[in-house]
Amino acid sequence: MPTATRVPRHVAIIMDGNGRWAKARRLPRFAGHRRGVEAVRTVVKACAERGIEYLTLFAFSSENWRRPAEEVDLLMRLFHGALTQEVESLHRNGIRLKIVGDLARFGERIHALIENGERLTADNRRLTLTIAANYGGRWDILQALSRLVRDDPAAASAGMFKEEQLAPYLSMSYAPEPDLFVRTGGEQRISNFLLWQLAYTELWFTETLWPDFDAGSLDAAIDSYRRRERRFGRTSEQVTGSATDEPQESAAAGLAAAGG
Ligand code: IPE
Ligand code: IPE
Ligand code: MG
Repeated sequence: MPTATRVPRHVAIIMDGNGRWAKARRLPRFAGHRRGVEAVRTVVKACAERGIEYLTLFAFSSENWRRPAEEVDLLMRLFHGALTQEVESLHRNGIRLKIVGDLARFGERIHALIENGERLTADNRRLTLTIAANYGGRWDILQALSRLVRDDPAAASAGMFKEEQLAPYLSMSYAPEPDLFVRTGGEQRISNFLLWQLAYTELWFTETLWPDFDAGSLDAAIDSYRRRERRFGRTSEQVTGSATDEPQESAAAGLAAAGG
């Protein structure tokens, strides 16, 4: 059971507010997305410096295809550009790159870049950077379940699956569940991000728009996280160690016997 006293091992972020950042400056939405990529660079570096082991960024949701074709096209070009230009520098900095999501919808060139980037950085362990692209939490649960049923049809027909059996099939099975979730841009919703994995994650929302998010913003999120008490269904006394595991009666009896 992870405690909240240290730096979170895994931070997952919904990077929202690029469009509003641009609009406030009378710039096209694309300008906001471009500044968003710069914020990604800043935050990746800050996470590595703070000893965070996993950083997961929601870059494109399975619902974002509903945006105007022109914006989708620009986002794909940005994704392609980032995969082309950033992988070397990630590798130099000891960062492992992972892409999760329904990648079938991306073109050949992006597939090749993803494969190369993941292969090149596979042995890096300083920080694992996961980019969720064409990702949806419901898609993730369904693809995991489909593969589990295929691998174990007997258990499926007996209706006997346990959580521990599904978990290895989820697309982020290589990472612990997020300790800290951050959403920028002021909205307080999950937007079909990591649904299964966020079950016990500490949530933090900020009005800051993603292009303005920096190391100081990250520190504010971590500060908040460190003040949380992660109880996972238990009582505060159990978590802080001020209670014994013995039933109440016997603890009372013990006290009485000791003359307390
Ligand atoms: C987040 O910024 C980036 C993506 C969803 C790709 P938005 O583009 O959603 O920015 P707002 O919410 O319109 O300000
Ligand atoms: C969520 O942002 C997805 C990403 C950041 C990639 P959106 O801006 O698309 O979320 P909604 O649709 O407003 O909830
Ligand atoms: Mg948005």
